[in-house]
Amino acid sequence: MTTTLFDESLNRYAIKMSSDELPVLKALERETYRKEMQPVMLSGHLQGSLLQMFSKLMNPKRVLEIGTFTGYSAICLAQGLPEGGLVHTIEIDEERQDIIEKYIKAADCQNKVVTHFGDATEIIKGLEEDWDLVFIDADKPNYEHYFDLVIDRLKIGGIIVADNVLFEGKVLLPEEEQGKNEKAMFRFNQKIKNENRVEVLILPIRDGISVIRKVSN
Ligand SMILES: C[S@@+](CC[C@H](N)C(=O)[O-])C[C@H]1O[C@@H](n2cnc3c(N)ncnc32)[C@H](O)[C@@H]1O
Repeated sequence: MTTTLFDESLNRYAIKMSSDELPVLKALERETYRKEMQPVMLSGHLQGSLLQMFSKLMNPKRVLEIGTFTGYSAICLAQGLPEGGLVHTIEIDEERQDIIEKYIKAADCQNKVVTHFGDATEIIKGLEEDWDLVFIDADKPNYEHYFDLVIDRLKIGGIIVADNVLFEGKVLLPEEEQGKNEKAMFRFNQKIKNENRVEVLILPIRDGISVIRKVSN
C-alpha cells in the first residue's frame, strides 16, 4: 500500500516479521485510505515502527514534526516520550484537523501532541523549544530551509529524520530530467553531506530516510 524502493515481497516479509501495528494506527490508516486523495503520504507500518523505535530509544522531551498529514507519524513519535514530553506537529491543511485530533485522542496522546495549523516555515520560528528529535516530512523544496530553521535549536546528540530523500530513485537522474522535488532532494542530500555539524546515514528503505545526528554547534 505504500511507496517503497525495496522489493515488495521482502518489504511485506519485513512488515510481517516486525512487531504488530497498534490497532489505532491500523484504523487511522484505513480511514486515511478511504478519505484522502494521496494516502501513500502516510508513513505506514514499517516507517512508523522505525519512528517509534527512535522515540523509544531516545525518550525525547521535545519532538518537532513538519508535515502531520492525518497524524500517523505524530502518534508514532509520541510513543517514547517521557513524562512531560511533547510532540509539536505542523500541518498546512486545516481540513485535516478533525481526523488528526480524532486519532490523537483515540491513541490517548492528547496531552502529548500539540497540533499547529499553518505554514511550517513561519510556525517553526515561533516555537521556542530545544529539539531532541525532528521529523521533516513536508514540501520537498523547503527541506533545506527546514534544516536551517531547526539546526541551531537541535540539541547536540539530537536527531533529524528526513523522509523521501531518494525520491523514488529519481535523485540519480541527470539534472535536466529531474523535476522540482527530486532536484530539491538531491540538493538537500548534498547540503547535509557537506554540513560539518552533523553526521548522516541514509537508510534505503521505503522512499529513503536520512538519519542526521548533530555532533557540534
Ligand atoms: C508526506 S505528508 C506527511 C505524512 C505524515 N508525516 C505521516 O507520516 O503520516 C506531507 C504533509 O505536509 C504538509 N505540508 C506541505 N507543505 C507544508 C508546509 N509548508 N507547512 C506545513 N505542512 C506542509 C502536507 O499538507 C502533507 O499533509
